[in-house]
Amino acid sequence: MLVASNRGPVSFTLSEDGALTMRRGGGGLVSGLSGVVKEMEVLWVCAALSDGDRSAVRLAPGGRLDHAGYDTGPLRMLDIPPSTFHRAYNAVANSTLWFVNHLLYNTPTAPQFDTRFRREWESYQSYNAAFALALAEEAGPGARVMVQDYHLTLAPSMLRGERPDVRISHFSHTPWAPPEYFSLLPDEVAVEVLCGILGADHAGFLTARWAAAFMDCCEALLGANVDRGARTVTHEGRTTRIGVHGLGVDGDALWARAVEPDVESHMAALRQEVGDSKLIVRIDRTELSKNIVRGLAAYREFLAAHPEWHGKVVHLAFAYPSRHDLPEYREYTAAVQRCAKEIEDEYATEDWDPLILNVNDDYPRSLAAYRLADVLLVNPIRDGMNLVAKEGPILSPRSALVLSREAGAAAELGADALLVNPYDVCGTAEAIHEALVMPEEERLERGKRLRAAATALPPGLWFAEQLAALEPAP
Ligand code: G6P
Repeated sequence: MLVASNRGPVSFTLSEDGALTMRRGGGGLVSGLSGVVKEMEVLWVCAALSDGDRSAVRLAPGGRLDHAGYDTGPLRMLDIPPSTFHRAYNAVANSTLWFVNHLLYNTPTAPQFDTRFRREWESYQSYNAAFALALAEEAGPGARVMVQDYHLTLAPSMLRGERPDVRISHFSHTPWAPPEYFSLLPDEVAVEVLCGILGADHAGFLTARWAAAFMDCCEALLGANVDRGARTVTHEGRTTRIGVHGLGVDGDALWARAVEPDVESHMAALRQEVGDSKLIVRIDRTELSKNIVRGLAAYREFLAAHPEWHGKVVHLAFAYPSRHDLPEYREYTAAVQRCAKEIEDEYATEDWDPLILNVNDDYPRSLAAYRLADVLLVNPIRDGMNLVAKEGPILSPRSALVLSREAGAAAELGADALLVNPYDVCGTAEAIHEALVMPEEERLERGKRLRAAATALPPGLWFAEQLAALEPAP
């Protein structure tokens, strides 16, 4: 069995003296897959993302890092030329496909698909071809190949061309755009992406909503034959099964990590910092789709509308750096910091700090924050699933969840969360207030049901479902 994704379970940094340090990869995809793959005989194929990764690959025979001392099993990192990688990852995957599926374009000025984009698209094709080639080399007869996410939409059909004997699954960890938005892409690109995924035997999505949007795109843009009841798409004589697999959390493993001494000492430090104030917590990558700026604006509206909370509440916002090669992300980080400063300037007093913004990636400190939260704020513009919304209720049985109705997680948690329109900052401010005043008994009741929903399909079962879906129909 093989797994393919852009980001692998580990990455390396190269220090000035040439030493390599290894660290765990970030993001929902890696955290979902790492635990699963460890238990199985799987080769993970990923891209070298940095100079550190490239050095590690060059030291390893055939790029196979089987003995690198991490615990996720054998890994093959592909040393794709940096300029090709940069265009495929930054320009196409993260600036085009991510933007389209999260509806992030400011359409009066962007996107603009010019000659430069066409060149970037060629790099995306080469990057996908490099994966398809490596997978074709590594796969045994009849192997199962699990291709992940929007970086690798073309790899399934390319691999099928090389190796018709293998069984291929593709999984999208993002939302999928409706046809009228997806068709912002140049026609030939839209067609290639859809046909690329249809090269798989099974295409998986996190919610029924994203699966339906994909099927709508196949029908509208390819004229494919879509059976919504049976969830199949037939195009050019091949049928792809469409699956919905709502990735959840391994509650026991998360809890075990969250009671380790480093987390406990962060909890004590945070408690000291905020005293007995109520805590509103958010934990995100500084990512455009996460809507951090509107989250801060909502907190500001809440403070303006509810002066009775002044001095009694603190907003603890974790916003880790992400994708800083892209100017939009650097600007967004600056906007988050500006907004935070405005709140400080307006409301901070000598003995009350209304907002603590954490911009460094500190996993144990964020676990401590989850455990102390009274309210968890998850307000993305749009999100494939959002695992923060699922981790919170596991780690804090008495916290209330304010959740964007546009997060995939809303499909499973919506009944017990306070759902908000992510663009409506006044509505979000009121939901924060409602969450804070929710009676203890109601929080515990809702918390119980949120926890059950969050752990319903832990990564092991989520992966097993996709493997089962790859078996030929009886
Ligand atoms: C999302 C994507 C993943 C990606 C992660 C982190 O969860 O679905 O594919 O790995 O974000 O983003 P990055 O660009 O840092 O890999």
